Amino acid sequence: MAGAVFRTGFSVASNQLISEPQMMIKLSFRVQLNLPSWLLLSLLLLAVPAQSASRKPVRAKHAMVVSAESLATFAGLDILRSGGNAIDAAVAVGFTLAVTYPEAGNIGGGGFMLIRLADGQSTMIDFREKAPMAATRDMYVDSSGNVIPEKSVLGPLASGVPGAVAGLLMALEEYGTKSRAEVLERAIAYAEHGIAVDLRLEESLVGYMSDLEKFPSSTRVFTKNGEPYKEGDIFKQPDLAKTLRAIAKDGHDGFYEGEVADRIVEEMKRSGGIITYDDLESYEAVERTPVFGSYRGFEILSSSPPSAGGTVLLEMLNILEGVDMKGKGAHSSAAVHAFAAAAQQAYADRALYIGDPDFVEIPQQQLISKEYAAQRRKTIQENKATPSTDAPNAGKEEGSHETTHFSIIDQFGNAVSTTVTINSLYGCKTVVDGAGFVLNNEMDDFVSKPMNPDSYELVGFEANAIEPEKRMVSSMTPTIVVKDNLPYLIVGGRGGSRITTAVAQVILNVIDFGMNVQEAVDFGRVHHQWRPDKILYEPFTLPQDVLVNLRAMGYTLEPTSIANGRVEVILREPSTGFLLGAPDPREEGVAAGF
Ligand code: GLY
Repeated sequence: MAGAVFRTGFSVASNQLISEPQMMIKLSFRVQLNLPSWLLLSLLLLAVPAQSASRKPVRAKHAMVVSAESLATFAGLDILRSGGNAIDAAVAVGFTLAVTYPEAGNIGGGGFMLIRLADGQSTMIDFREKAPMAATRDMYVDSSGNVIPEKSVLGPLASGVPGAVAGLLMALEEYGTKSRAEVLERAIAYAEHGIAVDLRLEESLVGYMSDLEKFPSSTRVFTKNGEPYKEGDIFKQPDLAKTLRAIAKDGHDGFYEGEVADRIVEEMKRSGGIITYDDLESYEAVERTPVFGSYRGFEILSSSPPSAGGTVLLEMLNILEGVDMKGKGAHSSAAVHAFAAAAQQAYADRALYIGDPDFVEIPQQQLISKEYAAQRRKTIQENKATPSTDAPNAGKEEGSHETTHFSIIDQFGNAVSTTVTINSLYGCKTVVDGAGFVLNNEMDDFVSKPMNPDSYELVGFEANAIEPEKRMVSSMTPTIVVKDNLPYLIVGGRGGSRITTAVAQVILNVIDFGMNVQEAVDFGRVHHQWRPDKILYEPFTLPQDVLVNLRAMGYTLEPTSIANGRVEVILREPSTGFLLGAPDPREEGVAAGF
């Protein structure tokens, strides 16, 4: 588990990291000055900067790509090297992940792409899935109004109308410079000729095979001689290659009309889904204004509704801006209390207010205003937890939290922060037969019953109830932090409801606690989301005395069995202009640049 990062400042552990050359200096210094060893040691400790156990960030002068998978990172890098911009690279990474990271990368799901162009203009491409036209508010509940287990999770009835292809192509057409053929070249080649299965893919296939096997089309794609693919096997996806070629040739129509659309509709009929040809043909990605805010003088741009991510992030940061986080110290009881309390408030507002902005009125400006945050801050009691009242959902098992994020900055100064998802790993577990990709199970992100926890234990109300053609609320938090009119941090992650707190902690770790970007990523994370009323902490991160103090304040604390998000981050070093890539050690992320 990541997080074995020693705090900055004096610590015994950091002192043990004196390098050999420094030791030589120490010895010769003692011989010449003949100082007592205790004094010598004290002087030396003052002279040696505290070091963390994190690896150093990856440095590059011109451009950087950080994604969760190496082939995808290099597909993006190749596009940049050949003169493409960050948007071209993001589209290439997105399509490549659909092949090389089939458990979360996708063309059967959706996401959000936040773009900040070199001239300072910014936009967000919303390619969130939509409820099919035949969807109804009660489609996942029984006659007593109780949610039917698995109905919104397994099989194509759980699928929203996919948005990924429309979104990636919109980004390319509006802001890219390369052709579809160029940005899809790697993805098509990997699907056609195969990739070597790595341990990550083997383990996820084995872990999810019992559900994938419920669908013959999925079994066909993900098994070899009846067994899940194993590390070192070559995994070819010829049907997916065909679908990607159709997209390269015909663009939006290559997916949302014609043979691929026919195959999706056939799969619906075969496996009990409701997406129609009309749903597909009418799907469009939407360009939206990101949410804007600030934190201690840094500008923050993040995802706007239907993602709750940016709104929750800004509300949290606004609350914390009035707290001396630096003075409290990273992972101190007081800092964790302030963070958890801010998260609790922002996630409570999320549950109540956030929905698809095309369907519901969201008091957006209020939620992200400094005045509102000041009021919320006043309700946080010193050294005392505020209970989230009436929590009905304690004890629910943690589900898998699957999504994937990539951060890119190019040699022209454009920055792109993109998060894509099919919700659970392998989405609804149903491959569209003959088209070679899994469909999402994003309908579970709607609220089928008020206060009924979803796969991420999130609860919600009316604002996020199912309606035909409505987009479900998301936690995706692609974010760009700007300093002196230049991108400073490009950050986002996976982890369902935990994405937003993960992004917030990376920002705090850099801005308040002075960590370098890799330390900020590696540092153990905590999470609170109002309901359930508990702090989830990554094991071996919070010291025992901090756990004791927080329990004494009234918090319930649990070590989490899964990471509190996985982030992929780039920081632009202000003093040199160099780009520092920081992949998350909680997954197999790769940063590369030139
Ligand atoms: N499906 C996870 C999210 O969008 O938050």
